[in-house]
This record gives sequence, structure tokens and C-alpha cells, in this order.
Amino acid sequence: MSDAPIAIASDHAGFALKQELLDGLRQRGVTVSDLGCHDGSSVDYPDFAHLLAQGIVDGRFARGVLVCGTGIGMSIAANRHRGVRAAVCSDTFSARMTRLHNNANVICIGSRVVGGGLAADIVDIFLATEFEGGRHSRRVDKIDA
Ligand code: RB5
Repeated sequence: MSDAPIAIASDHAGFALKQELLDGLRQRGVTVSDLGCHDGSSVDYPDFAHLLAQGIVDGRFARGVLVCGTGIGMSIAANRHRGVRAAVCSDTFSARMTRLHNNANVICIGSRVVGGGLAADIVDIFLATEFEGGRHSRRVDKIDA
């Protein structure tokens, strides 16, 4: 797993799963910045997506995990930031492939879509898998071209 800084954030719908993921990562010795939200009160997911995405763009975080009800709103907002490649993943195959081929730097998970055990596996694979490079570098470069 990369030792680069990692950030996690959620809205209220993703709060409980975010806490579960955070606890699991920290128990396994991963250093993670928790950008909120900090309780289950209703908030707006773009605020947290933008906060985490800006940290990726600024180079403060190498990878990010965003959790909302579906993962979709978070991904749409995060992908507005040039240099952020946010992928919604509900399975481990997609989590691996989006690192290998898309060099995704943010993974978005839906708390209403996947359970805690699967979400933890998805995040672990996302963090452990390196970009394949090669022909995929050319394609990824074209995303922002
Ligand atoms: C909040 O109810 C919900 O809309 C949000 O968590 C997310 O699923 C949006 O994409």
C-alpha cells in the first residue's frame, strides 16, 4: 500500500460507513485525514467532495475516499477538478481496474449500495494497486488534454 497521504470524507448518508472505513484503515496502520462530516446531521455532499478534491489538486493528498448514499454525487462533484479522477466502485474488480487503467486517485462508494465488508475490500484494493502506465498513460493524459 502506498504511504502517501490519504483523505476520506462523506456526507451524512455516508457518515457511518466512512467512520467504519476510517477505523479499519487506522487499525491497519494507514494514516488517513478525516475531512468530515463529523456526525449524521444533514450536509451537502458537494462541499465534502470539493474539499477532498482540492486537497488532491494541491498535492496534499495522493488518494481519496468519498462516501455518500450512492457514491455518484460525490464522483460528479470531485471530477469537476482538473487532475482528479474519481471512480464510483461497488465491486473489487472495478476498484482494481480503475487503478490499473485509469490511475483513479479518488474512489467513491455508496453506503446504500455496498455493505461495510465489501466497502473495506474495495478501499484496500484501491489503495494497494498501482497504475499500470504504458499505453494507459497516453489515454489518461487525454482526459485532461
Ligand atoms: C443524500 O440523501 C444523497 O443524495 C447523497 O448521499 C448521494 O447519494 C448523492 O449522490
